[in-house]
Parts: sequence; C-alpha cells; structure tokens
Amino acid sequence: MAAKRIVTIDGPSGAGKSTISRLLAARLGYAYLDTGAMYRAVGFKIEQTGANCDDRQALGRLLDSMDLRFKAVGGETRVILDQEDVSEAIRTPAMSMMASRVSAIPVVREKLTFMQREIGGRGGVVAEGRDMGTVVFPEAAWKFFLDATPEERSRRRVLQLKEQGRPVDEKETLAQIIERDRADSSRALAPLQPAPDAVIIDSSQMTIDEVVAFMAARIARA
Ligand code: DC
Repeated sequence: MAAKRIVTIDGPSGAGKSTISRLLAARLGYAYLDTGAMYRAVGFKIEQTGANCDDRQALGRLLDSMDLRFKAVGGETRVILDQEDVSEAIRTPAMSMMASRVSAIPVVREKLTFMQREIGGRGGVVAEGRDMGTVVFPEAAWKFFLDATPEERSRRRVLQLKEQGRPVDEKETLAQIIERDRADSSRALAPLQPAPDAVIIDSSQMTIDEVVAFMAARIARA
C-alpha cells in the first residue's frame, strides 16, 4: 500500500499528544483528528443512556444512532454529540476512565475505526490516539510514538486541571495515569503500543515546540 499523507501520533495519556498534534497539523496545513475525543464521547453516551456494555447488539444500535461530529469554532475544534456540545463534559477524570473502559469493547472499536478511516483516509491529516499507526492507518507516511515518564505526565495533567480551575488530587492523578496506561496497553484489541516503523520520542525533557520542530523536520526530510 502506498504511504499516504497521514501523520500518526500515538502514546499514553498526558504525553502532550493533543497540543503537539494540533500545532503540527496547523504547521502542515493538515486536519487534526482527535480520536480520544471519539472514545470519550462514546463513553459519555453509554453512561448517559445507562446502556449495557455486555449487550453487543444493543450497543451496536446505540452507536449507529449516535450523531458524532467535530465542529470548528473560532480556531477551536468542538465535539458535538447528538447536537450537544460535549467538549468540556468529556474531559473530566471520570470520563477518561470511562473512555478507556469502553475502548476495550470490540463493537466500539469497530465503529470508531470505521469513522476514523472515513474522516482521515484521504490523507492530509494528523491523527492522534493509541492505535493510529498500528491499526487505523498502518499505511501512514509518518508515524510517531510520543512518550514521557508517568511522573512527568502526571505533573502536566495536574497543572492542566489546575489551570482549568478543576479540583485536583495529585496522588490520585498519578494513580489514574498508571491504571489507564495499564488498561490501554494490556487490552486484547488494538493495545497501546508503538508501530514497528514509528519514531519513538520521549518528551520528558523536551518542550512542546522542540517536539513539534523535531517532527516537522522528520516529515520534511522524508
Ligand atoms: O487520548 P485520550 O486520553 O483522550 O483517550 C481517552 C481513552 O480513549 C484512552 O484511555 C484510550 C482510548 N483510546 C483508544 O483506545 N484508542 C484511541 N485511538 C484513542 C483513545
């Protein structure tokens, strides 16, 4: 398969993927696809409706009836679920755990993988998630795996939550990051892991600008 103009950025939570993907997409003039937001929206929907996660058929129907879109509003991408803007509601620590839980359900992964290929399959996209380079876009021209130590990722997440004026428990944040990594890496389907041809970047000691510049240089060189 010919390599497409697709950049994949996978990695654990809090490694800086979202900010870096957004900046890199703007720099390249590509669209930005936040696939974590899609798992979060599904988790939100399942929680809201009290759907039974073990009932595959009912879940399939729920997913088919769901209207999930990204909408550009003043340079920002908002997540719209069934006409409701859920951009903030899906970002709570509870929704992070919920998203991780529902992301292990086969019918959820099938549906979202299909949607992600529809959105990004033609290329000109920076796709961010856990399985972009391994499962969703194995034909991507450029693949990165962005990592950082759990302590550094937890420190960044605490800072981000504080900036948003949300209550933060530092010990709990680190514990949740470690637990979510464990769940995301050990699930049977599309686990979090670098694609064999991904460039692995440890961002623990790097600034956001340094990571973006490094990625842009790799892409320009290829
Ligand atoms: O990137 P994020 O924190 O918004 O992702 C939330 C959860 O969604 C994450 O814990 C695992 C899941 N996820 C996934 O399984 N595959 C993706 N491509 C993106 C996210």
